[in-house]
Amino acid sequence: MSWSRGSWRSKQLLHIPEYPYPAALRSAEDRLKNCPPLIFAGEVRHLKSSLARAADGHAFLLQGGDCAENFEEFNTKYIRDTFRVLLQMSLILTFVGEKPVVKVGRVAGQYAKPRSAATEIVDGQEILTYRGDMINRPEATPEGRRPDPERMLQAYFHSAATLNLLRAFATGGYADLFRAGRWLLDFVGKSAVRKKYENLARGINKTLGVMRAYSQPDIPEMIPAANQVEFYSSHEALFLPYEEALAREDSLTGDPVAGSAHFLWIGERTRRLDSPQVEFLRGVINPIGIKCGPGADASEMEKLLDILNPDNEKGKITIILRAGVDKAEQTYRQLFREFKGSGREVLWSVDPMHGNPKSDRSGTKTRMFADILREVEIFIDVCRGEGVVPGGVHLEMTGKNVTECLGGSDRVEDLSGSYDTLCDPRLNASQSLELAFEIAERLSAEQKPLLHRTSGRF
Ligand code: PEP
Ligand code: CO
Repeated sequence: MSWSRGSWRSKQLLHIPEYPYPAALRSAEDRLKNCPPLIFAGEVRHLKSSLARAADGHAFLLQGGDCAENFEEFNTKYIRDTFRVLLQMSLILTFVGEKPVVKVGRVAGQYAKPRSAATEIVDGQEILTYRGDMINRPEATPEGRRPDPERMLQAYFHSAATLNLLRAFATGGYADLFRAGRWLLDFVGKSAVRKKYENLARGINKTLGVMRAYSQPDIPEMIPAANQVEFYSSHEALFLPYEEALAREDSLTGDPVAGSAHFLWIGERTRRLDSPQVEFLRGVINPIGIKCGPGADASEMEKLLDILNPDNEKGKITIILRAGVDKAEQTYRQLFREFKGSGREVLWSVDPMHGNPKSDRSGTKTRMFADILREVEIFIDVCRGEGVVPGGVHLEMTGKNVTECLGGSDRVEDLSGSYDTLCDPRLNASQSLELAFEIAERLSAEQKPLLHRTSGRF
């Protein structure tokens, strides 16, 4: 079957709600089709080559951000704080883990969510579930939950403004390595993580100072990477009216490009071979992530790769494993063994968030820092044991001082302080930095399997 940007419409729609006024949806799509794309084909190619390096073990993919971005939390401080934590994590991974880091935010478009049920009962009334700010509102009322096509345009403009700020931060001096010591967020307090980070930043400054003293040209001229970073956007390609409306042709080659983000992924719920999301993604040149849970079967995954990456291009596919701490070891080992010898070019990454849901005593959704850390450790160890490159990590995190995941050395012990997520619980800044140190140390450690080490860490 030939591909077009609208060929997904012939499939059975998954996680795409019906709109009460289809003409209003079409009008919003038409206006979006006239808007400039958010990203450009050259950037997409550049990212793919960086991901290819990560697949070979010469770089590491750090992908992170909100479970669901929302219009309410949108402001300069929020965007800057998330970006800053990602930069700090990247610094830790680069200097402790000794690998360049490919930085990809779950940002500037992560506004649509898959839900396990289309409706829910609130105060005895059945209403539609919240599906992300691109589609409806979080308020649990029939009006709030009605899909509103104008929100698709709002999502576009929020994404454009977010990306504009991020591009300015990434290249305008904010990301300058000399500022690394000043990227500390106030609330990290006096914790051990903060001290560790301060020491690292001091060490880097010293090294750069020595290099500056010995160099004729200034450091930024000598290593442009010292004052600029590459930062990419990503989201789940779920809501296809938005994706189709932003699909463009590369003016140089004519290749179709998804213009909504550099990197798009397919979720655990939409990776079926005949899903409309797979149909849309098979036609665009962007790098693609595939979430892969405990039920994943290698032959199914290989069929998916035949569809999404028929030329077996390196850097094109990232498989994001998310089996959960109890099933991770067995699932990952089996998958790696079955893939071995297939010759498939894949970057393996791990999402230690979505397989590890827990509830606290009141039934509020949370995740344990210890489970998150443990799943990453298992991933790295199983990769090493099987001769596979542990190429990346995919996290739900924020720069805000939230109390949504329990544990970590700053000991979040209950969720009551600041539980703000509209969807899944996120790591806060301190937990994110702590995790980055742990991952970096693990990556740089002697490559012997540490699978059976017992950890008393919370
Ligand atoms: C997500 O990344 O927010 C998500 C819903 O993940 P998954 O598809 O892996 O459940
Ligand atoms: Co989530």
